[in-house]
Amino acid sequence: MSLQIQHDYRGAYHFSPARGWMNDPNGMVYLDGEYHLFFQYHPFGETWGPMHWGHAVSDNLVHWRELPIALAPDELGTIFSGSAVVDWHNTTGFFPEQPGLVAIFTHHDEQPGQMVRQSQSLAYSHDRGRTWQKYAGNPVLTCETRPDFRDPKVFRYEPDNSWIMIVTCGQTVALYRSFNLLQWSELSVFGEGIGSHDGVWECPDIFPLPVHNGEPDEQRWIMLVSIGDAGTSAEGSRTQYFIGQFDGTHFIPDEASQQVRWLDHGRDNYAGVSWSDIPAADGRRLYIGWMSNWRYANTTPTGSWRGAMTIARELLLEKGVDGSLQLLQIPVSELEQCRHSLLQLEQATLEQVRTALAPLRLRSYELHVVLSTTASVEWEVLSDGQHRTVIGVDAVAGTLYIDRTVSGDEVFHDHFAGRHEAVLSANEAALSAHVQVRELRIFVDRGSVEVFADGGRAVMTDLVFPTAGAERLGLMSCSDEQNEKPRISVAVYDVSTSRQA
Ligand code: FRU
Repeated sequence: MSLQIQHDYRGAYHFSPARGWMNDPNGMVYLDGEYHLFFQYHPFGETWGPMHWGHAVSDNLVHWRELPIALAPDELGTIFSGSAVVDWHNTTGFFPEQPGLVAIFTHHDEQPGQMVRQSQSLAYSHDRGRTWQKYAGNPVLTCETRPDFRDPKVFRYEPDNSWIMIVTCGQTVALYRSFNLLQWSELSVFGEGIGSHDGVWECPDIFPLPVHNGEPDEQRWIMLVSIGDAGTSAEGSRTQYFIGQFDGTHFIPDEASQQVRWLDHGRDNYAGVSWSDIPAADGRRLYIGWMSNWRYANTTPTGSWRGAMTIARELLLEKGVDGSLQLLQIPVSELEQCRHSLLQLEQATLEQVRTALAPLRLRSYELHVVLSTTASVEWEVLSDGQHRTVIGVDAVAGTLYIDRTVSGDEVFHDHFAGRHEAVLSANEAALSAHVQVRELRIFVDRGSVEVFADGGRAVMTDLVFPTAGAERLGLMSCSDEQNEKPRISVAVYDVSTSRQA
């Protein structure tokens, strides 16, 4: 039987470039009412190639407008990942008139017969990121001994009015300090003997987060490190995090960081970092990731564009009743302002849910489910009756899962098909303290599924490539050991599109 594969997988409310290849989000910064999202971009092909920085802006983190390319390769190399900051106090001397943006990125230089060289460089903009000037003194930071030396993330460290850079070096990260973004001195190196070393370390980030249910002033520093795909793990590329303290020189991990912790338990959330310069009055730590996996990213069946970002998420740090800390991801609240309700059912029976969902034909939506913590449930989304993506909770095993084994086109890569799992019961203490019922927020958008369980305690992000007409949404099963007639509350929302016609 031949599959009829649909080719319009470009999300309605996720950012993807109109054409060409995209990978990591870069230079996310907020200035004058605009969220900037730059990205690793190959405009002349649908696979990874000479890297540029593409550019998009949004005023609500949901609807993105693509702008012309921000940074193109030059005599020092192609433009790898990096960050951007607002230089409020003209520390660089680039902004005598008014504050502007500085991008700090990796120049990647590959010459036949020579060792790859990666160094850190600057560019600046006086017009809200519309045009950029590369700094004449580039590169500003080189390292002769480190072949993989990339993805600088810079933040302002108020205690000593400095800039701190975190940058990866092979399978560690290094921290540097500067007072003007131009001269840098090394502070420390972190990563040996701790964390996952399944692949090269990439796209680091470090930032403080308050413990949102902790003592007043209780905070920790979070370090994100993405781990490249060396072909040795089933998962491919993925992102780990550490919780600890930063004393201005060293990152000191908490004891619990000896155990590897993953940010996302799906396959397709990589290279994500957080926004810079979010106003203090807002105070959120906002995050976005690249929704793909290096294992198969170059082969996904999307046509003239390839690569999408996750929805924007807020990161929170929570303490369980046993004292353990966990990083949570929740969809940004702006998504609630961009949706309208298609269906609402309170405490409905299985039959009522099935009857209400039967006529729906949807490819881009949010499904919100509330059920008892003792209930197991299986949903099908993007289903044509034969091919479907299954999202389930196994209350007995304490797991959340996405099964994309028969989801449409899975044959484009041997490692794509599969069932992925996240543990729901690990932080049982936190669950019993904060959650009486189980809540699932499921974001479906043509070629992707993102599941946020229990207020962001378990999160899974997976790409899928459904068949043409796979628009059904249904409750496949629901059972509860403690209740013969389980009830479920269900809401379905249309999320307004960010795509220009
Ligand atoms: C991560 C990464 C970065 C690098 C960029 C190149 O996905 O490998 O380390 O800067 O992509 O496009």
